[in-house]
Amino acid sequence: MFSLVKPLLFSMSAEAAHDLTIDGLSALGRLGLVSLAGKRRVDDPYTCMGLNFPNRVGLAAGLDKNGVAIDAFGAMGFGSVEVGTVTPRPQPGNPKPRLFRLEEHGAIINRMGFNNAGVDALVERLAARKFDGVVGVNIGKNFDTPVEEAASDYLHCLDKVYAFSDYVTVNLSSPNTPGLRELQFGAKLDELLGQLRERQLQLQSQHQRYVPIAVKLAPDMEDDDLRQVADQIVASELDAVIATNTTLDRSAVNGHPLAGEAGGLSGSPLTKKAAHCCQVLSDQLAGKIPLIGVGGINSGEVAAERIEAGADLVQIYSSFIYQGPELIKDAAKAIKKLRS
Ligand SMILES: Cc1cc2nc3c(=O)[nH]c(=O)nc-3n(C[C@H](O)[C@H](O)[C@H](O)COP(=O)(O)O)c2cc1C
Repeated sequence: MFSLVKPLLFSMSAEAAHDLTIDGLSALGRLGLVSLAGKRRVDDPYTCMGLNFPNRVGLAAGLDKNGVAIDAFGAMGFGSVEVGTVTPRPQPGNPKPRLFRLEEHGAIINRMGFNNAGVDALVERLAARKFDGVVGVNIGKNFDTPVEEAASDYLHCLDKVYAFSDYVTVNLSSPNTPGLRELQFGAKLDELLGQLRERQLQLQSQHQRYVPIAVKLAPDMEDDDLRQVADQIVASELDAVIATNTTLDRSAVNGHPLAGEAGGLSGSPLTKKAAHCCQVLSDQLAGKIPLIGVGGINSGEVAAERIEAGADLVQIYSSFIYQGPELIKDAAKAIKKLRS
């Protein structure tokens, strides 16, 4: 199926192809036809953050921002789907064009800017899902909320999605929301994580259910900063680290006509950098809390390498756009093989 539709999708602008795909997958879900999207899921159960994942390959945040195609992505074989980033209020994101394919590099540059329909719309979609895998909700702040008030946006989203998510990801690492990455450091990070932990425990007693919180980091940090942040997340008693988001570094695509586009770079040029971050974080975390590896996972071999670099689970976005559902199967099989 994917090999039939790929030429059509790649003949369109990246964002038009994205919208058409999401609309199509969403329609399959509404019509109860998600098996048409599908591949059988590789069965490789794994427990992480106290949750039972059917396999260790997940869809990374940003593809299904509004949670409209969770069932279809599940039918393609993902063991988990992370929806969002969602913000308290709907927002349009940055002006178009804001999404670019660098096909020769198997890469994407995006400066979408958290375009999303807002947390209330997402909650409705979450409540309607049928997918039996794990669903994470990635939360962020509205672009016009000052960074000093970011905590109130994160707490608002956490309150709203708590009852409907298996885990929640706090996105501190998008390069497309001014000031967001500042929250990854020092006292600002401690303050935010402390408030999130406190609210998580309140919500736990209110809902009689514990929903783990993961923190998603950027790849553009020095190793010492990564180690420091890892220690802060552990000290805050949050539940997992996700590494990494897109990179601002263009060295791997130098000379490409689109290399100068503003935004975050993802896909194959990110493989090495994200793998390095994963290794540094896993050494520092030393198994105290789980680590989810994402960034440039473009083959079964690279997926297995990320697990060997210390990740408990992996997530994929850009290479899934280029390779389709076959990559999910390749990645899940390669990871399963590590245990046999
Ligand atoms: C178009 C696009 C939009 C994205 N939007 C989000 C987002 O809203 N929230 C987020 O945490 N990550 C977002 N990401 C980052 C991905 O989740 C992932 O961390 C990153 O792309 C690296 O993985 P990859 O190389 O497999 O794409 C986005 C990535 C792309 C390409």
